[in-house]
Amino acid sequence: MSDSGISVLGICGSLRKASYNMAALRAAIALKPAGMSVTVADISEIPPYNEDVRAGGFPATVETLRQEIAAADALLFACPEYNYSMSGVLKNAIDWASRPPDQPFAGKPCAIIGAAAGMAGSARAQYDLRRSCVFLDMHPLNKPEVLIGQAHTKFDAEGNLLDEVAKNLIRDLMAALAGWARQIGKH
Ligand SMILES: Cc1cc2nc3c(=O)[nH]c(=O)nc-3n(C[C@H](O)[C@H](O)[C@H](O)COP(=O)(O)O)c2cc1C
Repeated sequence: MSDSGISVLGICGSLRKASYNMAALRAAIALKPAGMSVTVADISEIPPYNEDVRAGGFPATVETLRQEIAAADALLFACPEYNYSMSGVLKNAIDWASRPPDQPFAGKPCAIIGAAAGMAGSARAQYDLRRSCVFLDMHPLNKPEVLIGQAHTKFDAEGNLLDEVAKNLIRDLMAALAGWARQIGKH
């Protein structure tokens, strides 16, 4: 962790331009505390996982992601819900990045936000992601949970988050992530 603050890598599980999850990630960047920087990973060109391809070396897009994860003090996942679980795009990126050597997720503090069309606001997907965090040896922040349900009612047409409850939760989560990263980073 540098003296200048905490560096966070955002990873969004939706690739569509008008993604509510990417919009939530932008809101998180706007609401982050002083002393924190957030960059967003580009996972759009990561190919479907194939062990035969990996045997020949990580694709450049994966290598970049792995280096970004390793360099970050903490991760922030924006987690869509697809069929009651995380999106294939997100799982695929995690699967690629997680392969040895030097599994970059290990010991990393992380936080999760999510927006979904359903009432549960991606809760089921987030809990699946938390399960993967256990295997990956990450340290996910427990609370606050940011579950933006009925997302189409919470953002305007430009993707600005309008919902004050969600905004406050995201602000609290970013502050908690800063504290969590400092705490975990000491070990
Ligand atoms: C394949 C697929 C499966 C989905 N399954 C769920 C679901 O299980 N629960 C839910 O609340 N919404 C579900 N949705 C709706 C998404 O929440 C909605 O499309 C949301 O906008 C996706 O996130 P994004 O805006 O970041 O792309 C699903 C959408 C797709 C494309």
